[in-house]
Amino acid sequence: MYASVFASLLALQAATGFATSLSKRGVDYYDPNANGGSMLDNAGDGYGEPLNVIISGLSSPAVLTEDGAINFARSIGFSEECFGFHLGGAQSANLGDGNGSVNQTIELREDYGSSSVGTCLESLVGGNHFRIYVQNGTEADSGALFLAVSKEEDVSDSHTIVPDGYDIGRNDLVSAAVGQTSFGGVSYTTTAQNVTGLLTPGSTGVNHGIAVDGIVTVLTVTIN
Ligand SMILES: *[C@@H]1O[C@H](CO)[C@@H](O)[C@H](O)[C@H]1NC(C)=O
Ligand SMILES: *[C@@H]1O[C@H](CO)[C@@H](O)[C@H](O)[C@H]1NC(C)=O
Ligand SMILES: *[C@@H]1O[C@H](CO)[C@@H](O)[C@H](O)[C@H]1NC(C)=O
Ligand SMILES: *[C@@H]1O[C@H](CO)[C@@H](O)[C@H](O)[C@H]1NC(C)=O
Repeated sequence: MYASVFASLLALQAATGFATSLSKRGVDYYDPNANGGSMLDNAGDGYGEPLNVIISGLSSPAVLTEDGAINFARSIGFSEECFGFHLGGAQSANLGDGNGSVNQTIELREDYGSSSVGTCLESLVGGNHFRIYVQNGTEADSGALFLAVSKEEDVSDSHTIVPDGYDIGRNDLVSAAVGQTSFGGVSYTTTAQNVTGLLTPGSTGVNHGIAVDGIVTVLTVTIN
């Protein structure tokens, strides 16, 4: 009985199209390579940063919005960039969703303290950061967030990426995210799965010529 009520609700939802942008879409992500996109973003110099973490489209819908992603990022120790210390240039990516090249929605940096000063400090000493791209064009509407994660040198080195900084940045972010976290009254349970075959191992086309291991970690983030 419950199953059939649920089935009719699904049918109703499909028939009326009342699904909002906050309803689940039903797929982890689509491979950008399959539709003219790339797992490297465009850093503007002919090279790109690897999109080495995906927040799955099967995550809680509220996580997959800009505000939701920021709150989740805060729960694992990241902040919005400190005013006046936005040193990294804006980048763009083509996620194969029919939208072509779109700008990052936001750039987040690791928060070294409890106040906004934490992020300012991070901009000076270096640390982990990431850019977020949303796969929500009509040709591949997973709602997944693609992250270009890296670990940087400090500001005196003009925010360049440390050797092996893409793989290290990914692993650090994933370690901080997996399990239970919370921020602003929202609690998250996050699981991780490594995927190969999306991102080519090596340094071809990769910004700063830094080789990557080709692993993309897919996080599924569920609000408890
Ligand atoms: C994307 O970013 C570039 C560089 O910051 C900017 O010139 C351009 O207007 C942006 N495009 C959109 C659609 O916001
Ligand atoms: C797609 O994502 C962008 C960036 O977060 C957002 O501004 C836009 O509203 C989203 N579009 C849809 C249809 O969800
Ligand atoms: C992709 O295109 C769709 C449809 O035009 C639009 O609603 C959405 O906001 C775009 N996504 C991004 C990230 O710009
Ligand atoms: C993913 O791969 C990285 C690098 O090899 C490894 O450190 C990590 O434990 C792996 N994570 C999972 C969930 O398999």
